[in-house]
Amino acid sequence: MANFLNINAQSTKQIMALVERSLALKQGAKPAGQAYTVANLFFENSTRTATSFQMAEQRLGWQLIDINPQNSSMSKGESLADTLKTIKAIGVDVAVVRHAQTAWYEHLDGGRHPLPILVNAGDGSGQHPSQSLLDLVTIYEHFGHFQGLKIRIVGDLAHSRVAHSNAEIFQRLGANITLSGPEIWHDSAFEQFGNYVDLDDQLDQVDVLMFLRVQHERITNQENQSFSALQYHRAYGLTQERYQKLQNNAIIMHPGPVNRDVEIASDLVEAPKSKIFEQMTNGVYARMAMLESIQ
Ligand code: CP
Repeated sequence: MANFLNINAQSTKQIMALVERSLALKQGAKPAGQAYTVANLFFENSTRTATSFQMAEQRLGWQLIDINPQNSSMSKGESLADTLKTIKAIGVDVAVVRHAQTAWYEHLDGGRHPLPILVNAGDGSGQHPSQSLLDLVTIYEHFGHFQGLKIRIVGDLAHSRVAHSNAEIFQRLGANITLSGPEIWHDSAFEQFGNYVDLDDQLDQVDVLMFLRVQHERITNQENQSFSALQYHRAYGLTQERYQKLQNNAIIMHPGPVNRDVEIASDLVEAPKSKIFEQMTNGVYARMAMLESIQ
């Protein structure tokens, strides 16, 4: 069994196999592989990722051990590594971990006792591999390919693990990436993947318009005071006017939770071009495929 920490550690062939497998599971393919014992440790809040990992694990027939990190002995000073070694010693095979620390998995102490197999459910502003996979599944389901797609990622780029995961894999799969958002949240890490453009630049040629959540829990007071919600929405949000400019086959994506009327006008969150709830549905199948693949 192998850890699943960063989608970009997978080969293109492996990623395409995961996309195809997710869609096969959605179409009713039978789950495969051994049933493992799994614990989901969410040190940061989650609606979508936590619930859909649970759903995926149940559909795979895995045994879930209920651990609430807020009630664990970490409140008494136990380290993340010791918590993970402890649950492994007790019989947990796989730990699905969300943590505010970027690359938490690179900071685990060694030692004699093994860790469970680790699945990254989102690390700080680092990576969000299961979100990337469900985004790939949603795009591939709609377009049937990635080659040449014009994908624009918009918003709080610097703090977004979704953007950090996605920009690289989208480029590797042949998409053309552009990036938009407040300059204060530009990040040089993206320069190798695409150019920064104004949101309105050639909007009528974009295939996928992906908005990012403003990460209030990670932004500084100074950043918070840079603009009001209304100013942000006008400059970087999906308005009716922008929606009307999109080509017929374009899609709108957002990892959720959406700050309604900030990233996306509330009445466009469920507009015909929006794939936001389809992304959530696809998340279950993507996570089933991911968990099958670590065996
Ligand atoms: N997209 C996403 O990670 O949402 P949650 O924080 O609700 O899991």
